[in-house]
Amino acid sequence: MSRSVKIAPSILSCDFGRLAEEIGAIEDGGADWVHVDVMDGHFVPNITIGPLIAEAARRATDLPIDVHLMISDPDRYLEAFAGAGADVLTVHYEACPHLHRTLSRIRELGVRAGVAVNPGTPVEFVRECIDEIDLLLVMSVNPGFGGQSFIDASTDKVRRGRGLLDAAGSSAALEVDGGVGAGNAGALAEAGATVLVAGSSVYGHASGPDAGIAALRKAIDG
Ligand code: DX5
Ligand code: ZN
Repeated sequence: MSRSVKIAPSILSCDFGRLAEEIGAIEDGGADWVHVDVMDGHFVPNITIGPLIAEAARRATDLPIDVHLMISDPDRYLEAFAGAGADVLTVHYEACPHLHRTLSRIRELGVRAGVAVNPGTPVEFVRECIDEIDLLLVMSVNPGFGGQSFIDASTDKVRRGRGLLDAAGSSAALEVDGGVGAGNAGALAEAGATVLVAGSSVYGHASGPDAGIAALRKAIDG
């Protein structure tokens, strides 16, 4: 099981002046996906990346581009991020009054559809849309910034997310994002996560991003 766990470094913690090189470094280090954190200063306090930078990331690598939309009214921007080359588009449950329609629209655009739940949102709330979901993202910090501490209750929430997907016969990916590092990656894989997002534990690793990825891989594979 653990062999199939993917590592998705978040470029939020990279040096944006050297974006292509920073993406090259994680690709060389064995990353599976590139996680792109989009923040609008409204749904979350911070403002980060738009479609232009997502498109630059797309050009820098052949790895799947995993776009995490921490924005209000994401429907307005689905086409732009699909056009930028996203392979996965994840919207927040809390930002989507018509979640079923939003997820269907993402799939119509030829992109895998993800839904994220904040720490304060029960993972069970996605149940009605389970057939429209290609990825379920359990946030293990309150979104908005890299480098925050992992909320411990998230591991059990991942376990419940795994139960939910399995009970529905869903093959959706189960992703965890926020405060993920070598200290908790093994437990998250054990709980049923299949994609681990990591920003500061990869790009902030004292020996470089490749060492950060290797430490995660070791924690997952034992
Ligand atoms: C948080 C973002 C995360 C963040 C992860 O709002 O969605 O993807 O960049 O960074 P770390 O791993 O440093 O918590
Ligand atoms: Zn993220």
